[in-house]
This record gives sequence, C-alpha cells and structure tokens, in this order.
Amino acid sequence: MATSISLLVVAQATLLSVVVIMFYRLLLAPLSRLPGPKLCAITRLPLIYYEFSGERREWIHNLHMRYGPVVRIAPDEVSFASREATREIYSSGGSGYDKTSYYSLFEHFDTPNIFSTLEKGRHAAVKRRFVERYNKTHIMRPEVSLVLQEHVETFIAICADSVGRSVDVYLLLHCYALDGVTGHMFYPCGLHSLTNSHDFELMKELTFPSLLKEQYLRYYLPALGRFLAEVTGYGRLRSDGVGCVRYVQETVRNATVATHTLLHKLRLYENEDPDLRLAASECMDHLVAGLDTTGDALCFLMYHISCPALQSCQDRLRAELLANPSVPVDNLPYLDALVKEGLRVYNPAPVSLPRHVPEGGRVIDGVWLPAGTIVSCQAHTLHRYDTRVFPEPDDFLPDRWLDPQGAIERNQLFFAFGAGGRGCIGKHLALFEMKTLLKEVYTNFCTRVAPDMNASMEMDDQIATVRPKDQKCLLIFDRVDEM
Ligand code: HEM
Repeated sequence: MATSISLLVVAQATLLSVVVIMFYRLLLAPLSRLPGPKLCAITRLPLIYYEFSGERREWIHNLHMRYGPVVRIAPDEVSFASREATREIYSSGGSGYDKTSYYSLFEHFDTPNIFSTLEKGRHAAVKRRFVERYNKTHIMRPEVSLVLQEHVETFIAICADSVGRSVDVYLLLHCYALDGVTGHMFYPCGLHSLTNSHDFELMKELTFPSLLKEQYLRYYLPALGRFLAEVTGYGRLRSDGVGCVRYVQETVRNATVATHTLLHKLRLYENEDPDLRLAASECMDHLVAGLDTTGDALCFLMYHISCPALQSCQDRLRAELLANPSVPVDNLPYLDALVKEGLRVYNPAPVSLPRHVPEGGRVIDGVWLPAGTIVSCQAHTLHRYDTRVFPEPDDFLPDRWLDPQGAIERNQLFFAFGAGGRGCIGKHLALFEMKTLLKEVYTNFCTRVAPDMNASMEMDDQIATVRPKDQKCLLIFDRVDEM
C-alpha cells in the first residue's frame, strides 16, 4: 500500500514537472517569442522524426517559407535564412561560434580532426598546420594540378571507349573524386579507382552505405550506438569500413609521399603526434569530405545538363570552350556560372550547419538568444528563400551569375561551401576538379540521358550531404567531332 502511494506521488510529481517545463518552453522561455510550430517549442520530437526520416532539410525549408527567416525548430534550436545570420553565426570573430556535438560524429579512429573539432581556438591551431595545402596557389602549382589533370585524362579515355553506349557516371565521378583527393593527400600513393578493380571496391565501400539513421542514433544515444556498432555492426561510422581504414592507416604510417602532399605536411608534426593518429584521422576526414561532395555535385550537374530541357546550357558551355581552348578554367565565365548554379540548386551539402550561441548570449538577425541555443543556416534555404536575389529559385538558370547587377547579394547568400573560418577548406581543390573535368568532357563530347536510365535522381539526404536517390546515373557520350 505504502509503495503504491509513493509511486503515485512520484508519477504526479513527474507529470507536474513535465507540464511546468512545457508551459515554460511555450510561454516564458526567451525563445518563446520566436515563430514556429507550437509543438516544436515544447518538444524536440518533431525534429527528431524528420531527422530519422531523412526529411530535415525539406521540413526546415517549408517552415521558413511559412514562418519567415527565423524559425524555432526545437525548444533550444533556431534556424535562420538571412545573410545577417550567416555573417554572425559563421564569421563573427573570424570563424563564428563553436560547433555542436553533432560534429563529433565525424571523428575517425576515436581521434579528432579539423571538421570534428568543436572549439574554435583548438580548430584554428589544427587548421594552421596544413591550410596552405588547400590554398589556391598551392592547388595551381604544376606538380599538384598535373596529378589532377592525369585523372581527368583517364576519365576522358573511359568516355571515349564508351561512346554511343550507356555508362554509369555516378560510379565514374565518385572514382574520379576519390582518385583526386587521395592523390592530393598521398601522391604517388593515391588510389586509381577509375582503372584499378581493388581501388574501385574501396570507392564502393565508402560511397554506397546508407548510414543516416545509424548516425543519428549515435548522435542522440552515443553509448547505445557504440554498443550496437561493436556487437552487431549497426550504428557504425563512415570510417568503420575495413578496406579504406587499412588503406588510410597504412599509407599514413608507411608510404613514401611527395613533398607537395597533405601527408608530407602532417608528418612535420610527428613530435606532437608520434603514432600519427591525428594525421590518420585528418586524412580519413578529407577523404570522406572530398569524395561524395565533388562526386555528387558533378553527377547532379552533368545529369541535368544532359536532359533535353537544359541541353542549351551544354551548347553554350561547348561554344565557350571551343572558342577559348587555352584559357585557364578560372577565366571562363559561362563555365563558372554553370558550376555555381549547379552548386546553388543541386548542392551536395545543403543541410544545417549547427553552432552554439556563446556565453552571454548573442543578437542574431535582430533576435536575442541565450547562450547554448543551437543555431544554424542551411544552404538549401539560403539559395532559395530571398526571391529578390534569386528569382525563380528552383529553376536552373546559370545566366543569373553573369548579371553584374545583384552580384554582391548573390555571392553573399551563396553558401555551398559554408562561410567564415570554418568554411570548406577543400573549396579550391573541388572547384578545380569540377571545372577541369567539365572543360575536357564538354570540349570533346556531348552527353545525353541514356534511354535505359530509369533511376531516380531525386536528392536523398544523408547525415551531412545529399546524393542521387538510386545512386545510378546512366548517360551516353557522343563525340563532338562526329556530330
Ligand atoms: C563540391 C564540393 C564540396 C562542397 C559542396 C563542400 C562543402 C563543405 C561545407 C559546406 C563545409 C562547412 C561545414 C561546416 O561549416 O559545418 C565544408 C567543410 C570542409 N570541407 Fe568541404 N566541400 C566540398 C569539397 C571538399 C573537398 C574536395 C575537400 C577535400 C579535402 C573538403 C574538405 C573539407 C574539410 C576538411 C572541411 C572542414 C573545414 C574546417 O572545419 O575548417 N571539402 N565543406
């Protein structure tokens, strides 16, 4: 009898506290003035539901279209869709606010790296070690750019062999991206997945798994996620694939690499990293970061300009390339516009980039938020929300980037590579890889969607990126000089 009375008291006290907390979150908390669904003000469950179902990006976008540029998406989380917000969150003081623990998902071998480091002071120290390897001047050095150029030539030779036949460019472009980033890190010990069947298997091992739910489980319930990963394999991280882990660890420890590589630079810090664990985590991170992003961005772009509705973009590009055969890729305005529009509409990293409001609270886009609030912007919305800057936002219109009027506003809202000191370190490498490949492909070939292409190219959300839903893209290459 006494036990059941105490249980009743505990139950009543718990219920009362839940009601008080809900009441506080809805009506009294500092975020209670912000627009957003009432349910999101009292519980994180709607957000968690959309995260696990892979719809977070679309859901947040729809909330912005309904509620405006500031939306409360959970009791302690706010999404923004303005230039003022990106400047404050990602660039104030150089690299903006500290990252949230979401980024711990991107640690490898239980060791931090530039992407997973949460605190900005520590991040700056890590970045200083090797940022020079990703500067544009470094990428343009002949010994660096020629390695990338070799992969382009291999890609072109494969296209030439497949003329008139249907070819899966999803596979080829991921091989190209993998060979490019590993060459940058480890030359001459980079992978050759475009031509080598063992390396091709490594590409598939990294590219094909769907880990969205497993990774969110690891985020919300780290101990359970870790336990399941060890016992059943469910809940593993990207770097738990056996083949690529072995490749990265062995290369980092034993390979003889050229002095211009990332690894050469990382090894200069061996006194602070005697077992090279930091170097291995760093390389694994760059490998993963440079694979899907560049591969998927190229795949979405090539697919869309191969569709009948956008063939004219391909024709315009070819006209520019044929008229300027020896002009460097960075001085071709239409190529630049096409790549930027591809990254705007079919951006492979369009999801929220979460940060914590620092001690003392901050004003973001006119709204005061207490310390610890999770705040973010997502490229998907920044690239579409303000229709004065991006009219007809869902349409693929490369010409918008050629209009000098409004260029400042467009560039301010362009968020494909993030912003500030924690924006993409691989941006110049990625742009060089993309532009060099597109230049060679469209100088030599026309591409069209293959008649047997029935795979979905819908954007399918992964934890930090999106990819074509069916991971297959069949195109046909026709020689320009035979048309
Ligand atoms: C089209 C291709 C790419 C896109 C769209 C892209 C996008 C991004 C974005 C949005 C961020 C910022 C994430 C955040 O603030 O939370 C980022 C960071 C990063 N990216 Fe990329 N990326 C691309 C290619 C690459 C390549 C080729 C590499 C090769 C190494 C790379 C390495 C990194 C690294 C290491 C970071 C973390 C930088 C830091 O924390 O300081 N990315 N990328």
